[in-house]
Order: sequence, then C-alpha cells, then structure tokens
Amino acid sequence: NKITVSVIKADVGGLCGHTLAPDELLEVCEAVLEEAVDEVILDYYVTRCGDDIDLIMTHKLGCDNEKVHGLAWRAFEEATKVAKELKLYGAGQDLLSDSFSGNVRGMGPGCAEMEFVERKSEPIVVFCCDKTDPTAFNYPLYKMFADPFNTAGLVFDPSMISGFKFEVHDVVGHKKVFLETPEEVYMLLALIGDYEKYAIKRVYRRKDNEIAAVVSTEKLNYIAGEYVGKDDPVAIVRAQSGFPAVGEVLEPFANPHFVPGWMRGSHWGPLMPVGEEDATPTRFDGPARIIALGFQVCDGMLIGPNDLFADKGFDKAREKALEMADIMRRMGPFQPHRLPATMMEYTTVPKVLKALEDRFIPLEGLELIEEGGITRKDRGDVE
Ligand code: F6R
Ligand code: MG
Ligand code: MG
Repeated sequence: NKITVSVIKADVGGLCGHTLAPDELLEVCEAVLEEAVDEVILDYYVTRCGDDIDLIMTHKLGCDNEKVHGLAWRAFEEATKVAKELKLYGAGQDLLSDSFSGNVRGMGPGCAEMEFVERKSEPIVVFCCDKTDPTAFNYPLYKMFADPFNTAGLVFDPSMISGFKFEVHDVVGHKKVFLETPEEVYMLLALIGDYEKYAIKRVYRRKDNEIAAVVSTEKLNYIAGEYVGKDDPVAIVRAQSGFPAVGEVLEPFANPHFVPGWMRGSHWGPLMPVGEEDATPTRFDGPARIIALGFQVCDGMLIGPNDLFADKGFDKAREKALEMADIMRRMGPFQPHRLPATMMEYTTVPKVLKALEDRFIPLEGLELIEEGGITRKDRGDVE
C-alpha cells in the first residue's frame, strides 16, 4: 500500500504580464481535481508561485501514471480556457501540445513525483518556485543532504550517517549518474556547481535506498534538442526520523543563493524564500521566489499545509535577498547579472552579429585561432 505524491505545475497565463496566476485559474483547477477525488486521486492542494499553478496530489497509482497526468493536463486545459477568455498574458503558454498523449513529460508542464510506504508519521515539504529553473535546487539539496554544517542529522542521526545518493542529470547530454556522499562529495560538487549542464533529479537514503527528494527537471532547457525556455521548478522532500528535520530542509534558504532565471529568463538573481501570500514577483519580474509548504501525509490525505517560509525566522533572508538583488541590478546588461549565452532564454546576439557581419575587421599581427580551437588545461586523472 504505497502512496504517491505528485506535484505537477504549469504556467497557463499571468495577470498583468508574468506576475501572477489569478484566483480564477486556481479555482478552475480545484474544481477539476475535486471531481477526481476517490476516482483518481486521494487528496489535493492547489497553490501558485508567481505565474505558475502547482497541483499537489496524492494517489495510489504510482509515478508517471496516465490517469494522474491526464487529470493535471485537463485542469491546465480548463484553466487555459479561462486564461484565454480573460486575455491573460501568455495564456496556455506551457501546454506545448494540443492533445495529451499519456504523460506530461516533454509536453510543457513540470512534474516531481515520489512513491513510498507511508511512515508512522510522514512529514513532507513541497517547494514551488517562479522565475528560476530546476538547477536552483542543486545548491540547497547539496546542503540538506550532504553538508553537516547545515544538517546536524548527518552527524547525529544513525540512519543518516551512511549518507545519501544523488541522481544527477546531464541535461545537455541526456544521461544520468549516481553519486554517493560523503565519499564522492567533491565529484558531486564538480558536476552540480555547473548550472549549464547538471541538475539534481533525485536523492535517496543510502541505508535502504528510500526516496528522500525529487525535483521537476522535465523542461530544463531542451526538449528534442531545442531550447524551450525555463521551467519554474517544484520539488518534494521527505523530512524527519531518518531524513533531515524540517528545519534542516529549510535552512539552506536562510542564506539566499543566486539562481538563473530572473527577467526574461536571462539574468542571475537571488532566490527569495516567501510565504504563499508573497509569492508575487514583480520587481524586474522577480526576484525569483520559492515557497515551502509542509504537509503531514496521513493515509494518503494531505494534512496542512503549514506555510513554512511565512515564518519571521526568514525575514532576514528576505532582506538579504533584496540586498543581493540591488547589487545584481547595478550590473544591468553586463555579466554576471546577465546569464552566459548558453543559458539565456532568448537573445538578440546572433542578430546583432549578423547586422555587424560586414563591419568586423581582422585583428592584425595575431595568430588566428580556429573557432573551437581553444582548449583548457586539465589536471591529470582522478584517482
Ligand atoms: C517570463 C519572464 C519574464 C518575461 C518578460 C518579457 O518567464 O521571466 O521576465 O520574459 O516579461 O516578456 P515578453 O517577451 O513576453 O514581453
Ligand atoms: Mg508566464
Ligand atoms: Mg513562471
């Protein structure tokens, strides 16, 4: 008797640009999910972060289930109808296909799902973001599951002392690798510190291979080789007794880090932890937000949520994030505010280069290096 938690999200339209998924859309989604209770799902909670709608659902059908994904797709389709009626901005933008074909993966919406046998008490934290992409979770998941200065339980809880296993996706090369901490922590960091290529998809507890965390990475940059934009991500993390405590799960966000995805999906900015009420990014279309909803899963029902970042304990993090935002904003179109070319959602640079084609003049007296001819030193073999 396993329970599955599925969080499926999409942006199907914003009230005034890309700032907010309005109540009207959430209500439509709730109505669709309500009808499916008992038939497909056990319970649900609908929320938003900025212009993204997040459907949090429980059921017994396992991950990647056609009925559950179809239900989410239907909710987003119905919401899209309303979004179009109201001429909301970007109405239907994340439904990349006109018809559902079994699974939302690769079709626009993002999804994070995990299946487990419910523990005696099953606290979970659902994170929902806007104006960033799935790599936003690389740094906090590392801290939660591999940094004893963040997670005291890695040192003091016997179930955690053998560490965790990270499933890391190479989103450019379409392959994955499993790395085990603490032994392989440096190799893990060598990969996940690179947001252009690597995203953490799942974390498992090594002791028994129990699922601990999962992130939506579907639309990360490339579907079928084409850049289709950012995917404001969601994640699910299990907490307590053998997993990080709720406070250890939240602690990485007390010191905000920089994430890609601000304005036009093309700038770095801080990730600001906020309560549901404040998940309304407007300054320079941001800065990126993250909400954390705590639930107790009880016989498959969602008890809660507890709006975890609404706590005053995160006021200072918000202040810091806003200071970081000011510092970045000063740079305008210059790096490091602006993302590297490979990570920008869209760019005019190829057009600018085309317009200047005839105006570029070779530099005299310098040896010509063929494009792609520059290599970097490597430092010998990894033992
Ligand atoms: C969307 C986003 C926004 C838009 C910006 C321009 O994810 O982050 O910052 O990119 O509002 O939108 P357009 O090009 O539609 O005017
Ligand atoms: Mg939008
Ligand atoms: Mg969004």
